[in-house]
Amino acid sequence: MDGRIAAAKATLGSECIVLGHHYQRDEVIRFADCRGDSHRLSQMAAQAKGSYIVFCGVHFMAESADILARPGQAVVLPDLNAGCSMADMAEISQVEDAWEQLVNLGLTDDEGSGITPITYMNSTAAIKAFCGERGGMVCTSSNAKAAFEWALRRNGKIFFLPDQHLGRNTGYARGIPLDEMVVWDPYMLQGGQTAERLRKAKAILWKGHCSVHQRFLPEHVDKVRANYPGIQVMVHPECRWEVCQKADGIGSTDYLIKVVRQAPAGSSFAIGTEIHLVNRVAKENPDKRVITLDDSGCLCTTMFRISPQHLCWALENLVDGNVVNQIKVKDNVKKWARVALDRMLEIQ
Ligand code: 13P
Ligand code: SF4
Repeated sequence: MDGRIAAAKATLGSECIVLGHHYQRDEVIRFADCRGDSHRLSQMAAQAKGSYIVFCGVHFMAESADILARPGQAVVLPDLNAGCSMADMAEISQVEDAWEQLVNLGLTDDEGSGITPITYMNSTAAIKAFCGERGGMVCTSSNAKAAFEWALRRNGKIFFLPDQHLGRNTGYARGIPLDEMVVWDPYMLQGGQTAERLRKAKAILWKGHCSVHQRFLPEHVDKVRANYPGIQVMVHPECRWEVCQKADGIGSTDYLIKVVRQAPAGSSFAIGTEIHLVNRVAKENPDKRVITLDDSGCLCTTMFRISPQHLCWALENLVDGNVVNQIKVKDNVKKWARVALDRMLEIQ
């Protein structure tokens, strides 16, 4: 399989770039021309030169690449089943319905003069477009703080989709007290909140989460600290607020890798994120102790859908002139989603 993938890549040459997210398995990531967190990969997609961008990641990342790619470039997701359970927790019809309720409460107009909608990259293109059209933007785990600053300067109130944990962690770091952040439950009338609570809130957080990161608990931090005195706990901001409060560092996948790489030999780290990243960092830093914050089931099963077989199939088809599994965002959605993504790329 390795030989076939390498041969197909060599035949395609500069016509094809393979982008790989850090959660991809070793057998796949070794073929990535560029690996990164979702922010870096979106920059790479925007700069790609060839005709094909093969995205070893999940659906929302490939959609973003298609929005940012030049006309005529094709984005391929080797397995269309590589979705994201968090992104699936917010459907555009639910978001539109929530917004209408906020408009009816007089908290904003439809253009977003009273509330700035910000969506995490981990959302559908339609939700990105929704935010772009209402004066909002996209953010990733590496620039959420800057996005919050920007939105608070704009009108002081944020509607954050779809990850309540990233929203809460970022809002808190930016100085918003917990009681000024409320959770919007899309399955309840008025999000399950009183009009007064919604009026007072500086951040309205969508009730979504990552099933991988939400598994980490504060007691896992206590346990590794007890077992490994001096260990540094580094976590992804999709972890619960209670976990992040106990950690020594919080950041995107790129950040977590960089911190370990730059630490002196002999350092110890417990990392709270997807297991493929943790295992790879451990392998790449043999002079340091790198362990997972908790070893019960922190695999992203959808990232894992991208297998060498799928990658091989996608590349060999490109060699034969067939574009399989192309991710194509509709033009009307692309227009506003691009606005929201460009605003993100401009803030740093
Ligand atoms: P990063 O942007 O930090 O790579 O995170 C993406 C993601 O899906 C984490 O679960
Ligand atoms: Fe989605 Fe969580 Fe997987 Fe990231 S780790 S792609 S947020 S399910």
